[in-house]
Amino acid sequence: MIRTFKFGLSLLFLAVFLISMSGCQSPEKEMDIPHPSLNQGPFRPKTAPASESVRHQSHYTESISQLNKVTQGTPYVELPLAEIIKLTKDTESEREVYKYAADAWSHEFFWKSTAENGGGKPSGEVLESIENSFGSYEQFRSVFLEIVDRLEGSGWVWLVLENGVLKVLSTSNYDIPVETAKPLLVLDAWEHAYLAEFENNRHAYAEHFLDHLANWKFAEKNLTSL
Ligand SMILES: [Fe+2]
Repeated sequence: MIRTFKFGLSLLFLAVFLISMSGCQSPEKEMDIPHPSLNQGPFRPKTAPASESVRHQSHYTESISQLNKVTQGTPYVELPLAEIIKLTKDTESEREVYKYAADAWSHEFFWKSTAENGGGKPSGEVLESIENSFGSYEQFRSVFLEIVDRLEGSGWVWLVLENGVLKVLSTSNYDIPVETAKPLLVLDAWEHAYLAEFENNRHAYAEHFLDHLANWKFAEKNLTSL
């Protein structure tokens, strides 16, 4: 009788053990994406208490968080953002994945596009390419600001290399020009990027970017890399 009871108890423990093991899962894998501390650049608020860096970290961090949610358990978690963007750009069912990956990538590219004591007229190969493509740096500056002014709603304004020529173009919301153009520099033209410091004056914000922030060394690196 006692032996039967012990045997039954052992079976019960075994069953509980097996059930608990079946419920064990390996830790959820998340995407290996750089920490938002990337945004330690020079763009600091002039007047507003809410800093630009916090705004960007909020947006960036939110995109990373959403991206981790929508890619959980998929092969995308193994890929860099640029690859995810290429794979999902034209697939309607993957629109969410593309949106968050593109937003995160563009913010990272924007932070790299700014530098302390940046801006003003570049030199070297970037200036040469600008002069070949636009006629002069002043003409490029004018075109860039015109594209900023013409952008409707939120988006990004890019300096790109396309078919050997530099161009300025804008994209709406989350879109980025990756098919035929090679981005060299970008301005975040979403409202959250300038509202605190420049209120609704996006033009003044773009002038500030060109005159004091543009990281021409980063643009040159992109221009001269394969
Ligand atoms: Fe932004």
